Amino acid sequence: MRDSALGTAYDCAVVHFPRIENRAGNITPLEANKDLPFPIARVYYLYDVPGGSSRGGHAHKALHQAILAASGSFDVQIDDGRVKRTITLNRPYYGLHVVPGIWRELTNFSSGSVCLVIASMPYEAADYIRDYDEFLAYRRTRGNATHVTDVGAVTA
Ligand code: TYD
Repeated sequence: MRDSALGTAYDCAVVHFPRIENRAGNITPLEANKDLPFPIARVYYLYDVPGGSSRGGHAHKALHQAILAASGSFDVQIDDGRVKRTITLNRPYYGLHVVPGIWRELTNFSSGSVCLVIASMPYEAADYIRDYDEFLAYRRTRGNATHVTDVGAVTA
């Protein structure tokens, strides 16, 4: 039986955050219960990522995340076990909502980039699936076929 809580790569939407523009610089405020489609429990950021590094390489069972490029740019590949999409994030006011049950890889970090992640739950090691075959099996038990098609790149 299909677990309705497990979304697909097409459920991972690019969200346009509010932007307050000023000649002296712009502000993007993110308020709980208003600007994100899930409750905010944790914020973390990746920085000092060496060129050529890849981050992610796992899925989460229950966690929702919004991933954004607070500075610079990088690519996020999302994979639901059937469809793979690659989204380039390069503006601080675009966030990618990654729903539970999606394998993600972050690559092509520009020099000095900062990846900000807003998460729906505190850190919990048990929520991770770190093995790709285990991920495919996890999806399969929820009625998802596992012939992965890469549908190509999108720029936010
Ligand atoms: P991980 O999520 O695997 O990083 P990435 O997907 O970016 O490669 O986390 C790397 C390490 O940091 C791992 O040992 C767990 C730890 N960590 C925390 O303790 N708290 C957190 O909120 C996060 C995101 C990671």
